[in-house]
Amino acid sequence: MERWQTIIEPFRIHSVEPIRMTTVEERQAALEAAGYNLFNLHADDVLIDLLTDSGTGAMSRDQWAGIQRGDESYAGSPSWFRFLAAVQHLFPFPHVIPTHQGRAAEKILFSVVGGPGKVIPNNTHFDTTRANVEFTGAEAVDLGIAEGRVPAVRHPFKGNMDLEALETLLQERAADVPVVFMTITNNSGGGQPVSLENLRGVRTICDRHGIPLFLDACRFAENAWFIHEREAGYAARPVLQIVREMAELADGMTMSAKKDGLANIGGWLALRDDTWAEQCRNMLILTEGFPTYGGLAGRDLEAIAQGLEEVVHEDYLRYRIRSTAYLGERLDRAGVPVVLPIGGHAVYLDARALLSHVPPLQYPGQALAVALYREGGIRGCEIGTVMFGRHPDGSETPATMDLVRLAIPRRTYTQSHVDYVIEVVRWVAERAGELRGMRIVEEPPQLRHFTARFEPL
Ligand code: F0G
Repeated sequence: MERWQTIIEPFRIHSVEPIRMTTVEERQAALEAAGYNLFNLHADDVLIDLLTDSGTGAMSRDQWAGIQRGDESYAGSPSWFRFLAAVQHLFPFPHVIPTHQGRAAEKILFSVVGGPGKVIPNNTHFDTTRANVEFTGAEAVDLGIAEGRVPAVRHPFKGNMDLEALETLLQERAADVPVVFMTITNNSGGGQPVSLENLRGVRTICDRHGIPLFLDACRFAENAWFIHEREAGYAARPVLQIVREMAELADGMTMSAKKDGLANIGGWLALRDDTWAEQCRNMLILTEGFPTYGGLAGRDLEAIAQGLEEVVHEDYLRYRIRSTAYLGERLDRAGVPVVLPIGGHAVYLDARALLSHVPPLQYPGQALAVALYREGGIRGCEIGTVMFGRHPDGSETPATMDLVRLAIPRRTYTQSHVDYVIEVVRWVAERAGELRGMRIVEEPPQLRHFTARFEPL
């Protein structure tokens, strides 16, 4: 037991960004101009921006120093070698292929290993991963455990793969499966972790069928911290070792450095297989750049290298995971329905439960997200029927859940910002019965949540 209960931010602030204060009337006008789509807002009109934790964190003094040191040589830059060493220190894969962000790594890998007739299992595909799999004509299958699909059910590793379902799929179709993926932590399923035990189980099944295992490792450090905190036998194991243990179980990874790289841009693809690596590098040169910089400037490579060193510090991870849980637990205790247990990078509000009077096809998640912005200037993100309800054949059905994700940028907001968020969410939740649903007045054929325009009913 620690002597003091308060977990402080393990940093001081050395450069600040102003927040522009706005009134409810100003925000209502901004909403009307944006067609009630929070992606259309000017970020200057947002007080607390919880749209995403991707690329929105604050960099450290040492990362900014790295940016000064960045070497922009086209080939063989010292910044590349620093980046390579930092990646391989955590993930000792022989081939590391730098990309401008995570989805570029996905695009390259799936162009090489995907294609019509193939099927890629994952605990839960993130939407860009699914889109990149499907773009090649392959099928993306989610095989997360059943507990992961029920917001109120508690499980320490809700991101786990359903091993039986994986075994059944591979018994039937192993020849069509080029790779099995595990997303750590599981973003679309609530930022929930995967246990090492489950990862080992997946590895055993993959070995039995001779199929490589890859990690979508965007939030690998957060996942490792949950293992450190929750998995029997790991409390005394350093996070760095847990990360390496996860890496050892895999044959490769895709990564968005915008999350646990603590950087504003960047990513990579890393793998063991020489033949795949050569094909991927050829694709990289076509779409991203030369293999020693990918889609990145030398200074970005430096920022990521330094970020990777900082992200496995236990003081940082304790603060990070605790501060997300602080927000979620306060809301839970106040009776606001949230996905439980609280995940690593975000708190997910259960809008379908809170706005039970609004049918899913009237978008309770969008109605709640809009209300949080109007009342308190907080920008979250609907993850529900707006995002997933429209199908390629033109039909529309409710998504599995209607959630609003409040994603926490890394090292960016203080506890008083979070206390304010709690106050606003509680105020809106107490009046949720008065919120009306929404109607879509304009939508594009794909990924409608980014650009659709809405009207309150
Ligand atoms: N995989 C996961 C699990 C992700 O969460 C993301 C991005 C990606 C891949 C793609 O990485 O953005 O660098 O191309 N998630 C962000 C989010 C966008 O808001 O959750 P990227």
